[in-house]
Amino acid sequence: MKIVHFSDPHAGGGAEDWMAYFDKRWVGVFNYRFRRRFRHDLSKLERAVAYILSIRPDVAVCTGDLTSAGQPGEFERVRQVLEPLRNSDIPLIYMPGNHDCYVKRPKCVKAMKDMVEYLSCGRSSFDSFPSRETVAGAEFYKLNTSRPSNLLCSWGFLYKEDAEKISGWSREEKTLPRILVSHYPMTEDHPILRIRHRLFGQKKILQLLEEEKIDLVLCGHVHKPYFQRRADGRIFECCAGSVTRNGSLVEINISADGKFDFKTVEL
Ligand SMILES: [Fe+2]
Ligand SMILES: [Fe+2]
Repeated sequence: MKIVHFSDPHAGGGAEDWMAYFDKRWVGVFNYRFRRRFRHDLSKLERAVAYILSIRPDVAVCTGDLTSAGQPGEFERVRQVLEPLRNSDIPLIYMPGNHDCYVKRPKCVKAMKDMVEYLSCGRSSFDSFPSRETVAGAEFYKLNTSRPSNLLCSWGFLYKEDAEKISGWSREEKTLPRILVSHYPMTEDHPILRIRHRLFGQKKILQLLEEEKIDLVLCGHVHKPYFQRRADGRIFECCAGSVTRNGSLVEINISADGKFDFKTVEL
């Protein structure tokens, strides 16, 4: 089976209402105006969608940060680009990122939740995460770790009850490859993950990875793509990087005997 993995398109725009200047959205808007819009090119996401439609994988996975400040207009901008993929018969798994869960403002939360339902054609809902889904010969564990956080940090939080749920599923007999989909990487080897961008509470998941109860983590958040490997060289964590910054995505083939093969594709 073939999976295509992309992440972090970061569509953006100006403040959509005056209240945005009183919550964290102004940070996202400021960042977009002076930094992100020069780095992230949505036409690269268009190219990614065209490429995915041309190679027809069994499933496509987007590990979040569709937006910069989680505002409805930003979701709408990226929705239009993803629409042909969503309307194809290729199942799409989308896990929101910290920028999609940026603030508690009800209209922003609603836009994010609507996006989860829309892109999955109703197979996922934000409130049911963590949830699991078998698609084309692999089992996907969909885990949300993104929550609104303070002004200066982009922390992620993995709740204890969510880790326990994943742990319970992982102890069942494994008949298919198991893939965890999360915006945040589970490992902290990348320097930017150590302080302002880190995840809390993933210890149990790291243990399941070590025991190979879970085979692979698909994640984003770090904008430069990278792989984490086991001691024998096999990859157990794939960070796709930002599709609109690097113009790349990752193709993963899983053979009938459960071997993973990874290919970074420059668009
Ligand atoms: Fe990001
Ligand atoms: Fe992120």
